[in-house]
Amino acid sequence: MNRYYNPVQTVEGPGCTGELTGLLCEMALKEGRVLLLVWNEEVLKRPAFAGLTDAGFTVCSLVFRASNPTVEQLFETYQATRDFAPEVVVAVGGGSIMDVGKSLCCLYGKDLPDEDSLRRLIAEKSYGRPAARWIGVPTTAGTGSEVTCWATIWDPERDVKRSVECRDNYAFAALVDPELAVGMPVALAVSSALDAAAHAVESYWARGSNAVSRGLALEAIRTIMGHMDGLLAGTREAHDAMARGSMLAGLAFSNTKTTACHSISYPLTMHCGIPHGAAVSMLLGPVFRLNAPALDQQAPLLEALGVSGPDELEETICGILRRSGQPATLKEWGAHREDLPRLAQLGMTKGRADNNPVPIEPATILSILEHIYSTESYNLNQKGA
Ligand SMILES: [Fe+2]
Repeated sequence: MNRYYNPVQTVEGPGCTGELTGLLCEMALKEGRVLLLVWNEEVLKRPAFAGLTDAGFTVCSLVFRASNPTVEQLFETYQATRDFAPEVVVAVGGGSIMDVGKSLCCLYGKDLPDEDSLRRLIAEKSYGRPAARWIGVPTTAGTGSEVTCWATIWDPERDVKRSVECRDNYAFAALVDPELAVGMPVALAVSSALDAAAHAVESYWARGSNAVSRGLALEAIRTIMGHMDGLLAGTREAHDAMARGSMLAGLAFSNTKTTACHSISYPLTMHCGIPHGAAVSMLLGPVFRLNAPALDQQAPLLEALGVSGPDELEETICGILRRSGQPATLKEWGAHREDLPRLAQLGMTKGRADNNPVPIEPATILSILEHIYSTESYNLNQKGA
C-alpha cells in the first residue's frame, strides 16, 4: 500500500516560535487553558511563552527534567496536571518532553487511580479521541517526535519499553525553531543528529516505506550528513540544517517507523546507559550490511549518505562519534561482554525488529553486538568481511 498520511502543520525557521500565539488562536479553545511543559525555567522567559497570559490564555507551567521518561514519571505528571485539565499541551524540549506532552493528551479525562491502571491503558491502547491537543516545540534536532503520533515511555520496573500510540494524537502543529538549540553541547547535538539520520535511513528501508516517505528520508539524510562537519564546528548554518533535517526525518518515519537499529538499541540505552543517538548510530553500518541484499534501491541511499557502502558508513559514524568526544564501541561505553547474549534477547523489540527488511533473531543481534563491542572485534570483522 503506497499511502502517506501526516496531518501536522509544520512551521520551520529561526524565530518561528513567535507564531505560537497565532496558532493557539487558530485552535479556537473554549476556555484557553494551556499547559506549558518545558525542560527548564529559562525557556519560560522567552517572549513567545511569557506573553501567553497577556494574550488571554490561562497558563499552567511545569518543568520536566528527566530523560527517557518512565511510566512512574508520566503518572506523576498526569496527577499534577489533571485538575487543571488543559485544552492544549505545548511541549517545549527534547524527545522526552515531547513524549510526555503527547502522552498526557491521551490520559486526560480518564479514571487512572494508579500506575498499574496507566500500564493497562497503554497495553490496551484504548485511548479513544484524546481530550486535549498538543503543539510540539523541539529544542534538540533529533527525535522528530513533534511530527509522530507515538511516544516512548520506559518501564524499568517491568524491564520493557512501552509505546503510547494513537493515530488521533498527531500534534496540531510543530514549531521547529533552530534558535532554541543554540548553545547545546556538541556531543548532545551530534548524538541527536545521528538519531535523526537513523530515523531517515531506517525509514528508507523499512517494510512500510512508500514513495513519499522515501523522498523525505533521502532529503533528510542529505541535509543531516551534509552538515555534520559544520555541526562539529558549531556553525549556525549547520544547526539550522539539523532542525530541518530532523523534522524531515520525523515526517518520513512517522509513516514507516524504524527497524533493527532502533530495536537493538533500546536495551543498550536502558541497561548500559548509552545515549539513544549514539546507540542507534553504532548499529547503522552493521544493519546496513545485513539489509543490503534486500535493498533494491541502494544507490540513492548511498548517494545521500555520501558513502560507498556499509563499511565506509561504519567508519564515518565511528569518526563522527569520536570527534564529538563520544565512545564508538560498546566496551568503551562500559558494557560487559558477558551481558551481550541477554542484550541480544532484549533487542527483539516488537514493531521494530519485525519491520526490518531482513528478518532478525537473537543470534543475528548477538553477532552484531559482538561486532561493535570493541575496536579489536570491529577490525577483526572488517578484515574477515
Ligand atoms: Fe530514535
